[in-house]
Amino acid sequence: MAQSNLADAKNAKNDEFYTQYHDIEKEINSYIEYDPDVFKDKVILLPCDDPEWSNFTKYFAQNFDRFGLKKLISTSYAAKSKKYDSGYQPTLFETDDPRFDKSKTAKNGKIFTLTRDKTGDGKVDVEDLEWSYLKGDGDFRSEEVEKLRDEADIVVTNPPFSLFREFLSWVLEADKKFIIIGNLNTVANREVFPLVKKNLIWLGATCFNSGAAYFIAPKELYDSQKMSSEKNAYLKDGKFYWRVNGIRWYTNIEHGVRHHPLKLMSEKDNLRFNTTLVRKLKEKYEVDRYPKYSNYDAIDVPLVSAIPDDYKGEMGVPVSFMDKYCPEQFEIIGIGIGSLGKELGISPIPKEIDDSLPGHSSVWRFYIMAGKTAVVPYSRIIIKHKDI
Ligand SMILES: C[S@@+](CC[C@H](N)C(=O)[O-])C[C@H]1O[C@@H](n2cnc3c(N)ncnc32)[C@H](O)[C@@H]1O
Repeated sequence: MAQSNLADAKNAKNDEFYTQYHDIEKEINSYIEYDPDVFKDKVILLPCDDPEWSNFTKYFAQNFDRFGLKKLISTSYAAKSKKYDSGYQPTLFETDDPRFDKSKTAKNGKIFTLTRDKTGDGKVDVEDLEWSYLKGDGDFRSEEVEKLRDEADIVVTNPPFSLFREFLSWVLEADKKFIIIGNLNTVANREVFPLVKKNLIWLGATCFNSGAAYFIAPKELYDSQKMSSEKNAYLKDGKFYWRVNGIRWYTNIEHGVRHHPLKLMSEKDNLRFNTTLVRKLKEKYEVDRYPKYSNYDAIDVPLVSAIPDDYKGEMGVPVSFMDKYCPEQFEIIGIGIGSLGKELGISPIPKEIDDSLPGHSSVWRFYIMAGKTAVVPYSRIIIKHKDI
């Protein structure tokens, strides 16, 4: 299979990965702890969520009363429109319902709403969801789902991975609050980074299992021969859990955690006691202190745990710094990638050096001379202390 077809096939599968209940609970709890009224009288839209599979719908429905929600709307995407076909079968919930329509079940999206205690059992919960078919397939970009977005105060979901950027723009163009799941590398994206830099959006309060999310994937994808280890992919209670690295929450709702300053060390102590750092500096750059980039005035700090507390100038740090970013402590200056690197003012890598580098796709990257060899560190965000 050609590279791009392989990537498309992978994206199509990833688009059908579902989020675990406890991961949602852990993240949402932080917002509630910070502000118990954060969802009070709010309309919440979950635009990629069929309650049959989505724990987002289950979670918000079960907490409807506790959060004081005004309305919960959850829409699903039609099986026929999905890029990955996992052999759609309507559920008993649908076929046993008088509204079941054979001609619509695979072709149309569905809308589920929750506003009242329909069953009369004294509480509003998942049993009270009311549903109907949408006119179209439930694409979040369709006019009817867009109308629901406009009605909503907050959009929450794990959107299709392949459409993350489009999804984020879709939420922001309507000026909505949101809590959504995406890949950490998206921070470095041309459209996303300026928003992060201006503190208009930020990472969520939790980061799954140190950044690795175990999603519930279509069961037929499980192949014990091909899976690298039990730790990365396993079956439990009939479900297939698949580990995906570098997954984070993105939001523009306050959760408080981001205001906790990152613990720093003096440069001297870092270089004396942080053995991983010392080894890294030696192996990568042949130096025994933070090196400076050859084409930009900043030092390279290859570990977030090794950011010095007293360096007054600019510092390049790995993108995972965003997990610890406290806007009161640091200013984000820019990022050293592609056109954003050019905007930051990186001098282009001289041609003869660039030609010697593997994957020389962009000359607007940082490089460091390690002896006679040029080394390009992986994506770096440039930061500066605010208070020194
Ligand atoms: C990554 S899954 C996550 C599902 C659910 N939100 C969760 O976290 O458990 C993304 C979902 O969006 C659906 N989807 C794909 N393309 C879509 C689109 N254009 N509009 C709406 N939903 C879409 C997929 O079929 C899938 O159900």
